[in-house]
Amino acid sequence: MSTVILKGNIIHTPTKEKFEIVPDGYLVSVDNEIRGIFTELPEKYAACPVTDYGDRLIIPGLCDMHLHAPQFVYRGLGLDLQLMDWLDTYAFPTEARFQDLSYAKIYYEAFADALAKNGTTRAVIFGTIHVPATELLMDILEEKHIGACVGKINMDTLSPDYLCETAEQSLRDTKQWILDTKNRYKYVKPAVTPRFIPTCSKELLEGLGQLARDFGLPVHSHQSEDIGEMQIVRERFPEYDNDGDVYDHFHLLTNQTVMAHFIYPTERELELVKERGVTIAHCPQSNGNVAAGIPPIRRMLNMGIKVGLGSDIAGGYSVCIFRAMAEAVYLSKLKWLESGKQDAFLTIPEAFYLGTRGGGQFFGKVGSFEPGFELDALVLDDAGFTTSADRLSLEERMERIIHLADDRNIVARYAAGEMA
Ligand code: GUN
Ligand code: FE
Repeated sequence: MSTVILKGNIIHTPTKEKFEIVPDGYLVSVDNEIRGIFTELPEKYAACPVTDYGDRLIIPGLCDMHLHAPQFVYRGLGLDLQLMDWLDTYAFPTEARFQDLSYAKIYYEAFADALAKNGTTRAVIFGTIHVPATELLMDILEEKHIGACVGKINMDTLSPDYLCETAEQSLRDTKQWILDTKNRYKYVKPAVTPRFIPTCSKELLEGLGQLARDFGLPVHSHQSEDIGEMQIVRERFPEYDNDGDVYDHFHLLTNQTVMAHFIYPTERELELVKERGVTIAHCPQSNGNVAAGIPPIRRMLNMGIKVGLGSDIAGGYSVCIFRAMAEAVYLSKLKWLESGKQDAFLTIPEAFYLGTRGGGQFFGKVGSFEPGFELDALVLDDAGFTTSADRLSLEERMERIIHLADDRNIVARYAAGEMA
């Protein structure tokens, strides 16, 4: 039996309404199953070693519900364009380079290192259309103990020649890749990943829906992100007035689906996503950077739609999910103003919830320290943010970390029950 006991100031959000805080508590996990948070260590664990983190904060691992591994190459660059031009100018030419495995190795290692260092313990990731590079990415993530759903992208229309497959080839490669990888890893698994509707023919969407069903796999894509994107979809599928109905027609909306953005949902689409149990990946930094818009997150939460946070590298420039938490609150305030102060903006505990338990539910019992949950945890050192004159509560210290912390504040990381 592997018993892990961490001592420190324990903070998590079993519900989105408020932080649960146990100062100077003991977090106990046996074989990657949390047994509880205790103010005094129960007698039966008395003989087990305790790792004492003193006055540091212990929080759940962070979940990045949407990002593009190859776009790590140009993060922080090219952000003066709107989505569709940005794809043509930056995303597509960069992704084409991942045909070269030695190029892929350099960037995928740097990418996985950045995720680990920034406290991302779970992630839902786009690769490229290339199978060998996508398998390499999966190998690297596995080595770093990052629990990830990874996709070989599918694109067979409205894509540059150098990044365009035929539906037949794309489906054949995807099926073989699924067979080769679905049982290969402990932490990593494949996800069916149509890039978005504009770059996928009906035949391809149909085949991908079939593969997702045949193998019971997660689905990952972009939905209702951008006015230009949606116009293309409306022209191609005039029988539907929203992206959701198109995905649903091809059986791509399930309770194992993650859809990024959802900025312009129709009423019907909100209901559909709720009914199917889809998780929405909210990527606030990206939404502003590619001038896509502001999604109605408050409405989604009020309806009980599942929502997590994503960095959307390289629409977003930072892999740090603390940035996404802070910017989710920030963007929700603009939405509040835009809605005539109708849609209440997000609170700090809500943003923290979205970046941990909100995304974590997609992976099972992940994202908080409730009994029965897996042990994904980060230990945070905020000493540099405080002075001896500060008298901050633990909740205030957490709020300051959300706004100011980066990888230097993460002093230890546990993934699926082990120090990683
Ligand atoms: N839609 C299709 N591809 C992409 C991408 O790479 N990034 C974002 N943000 N949206 C997309
Ligand atoms: Fe994206």
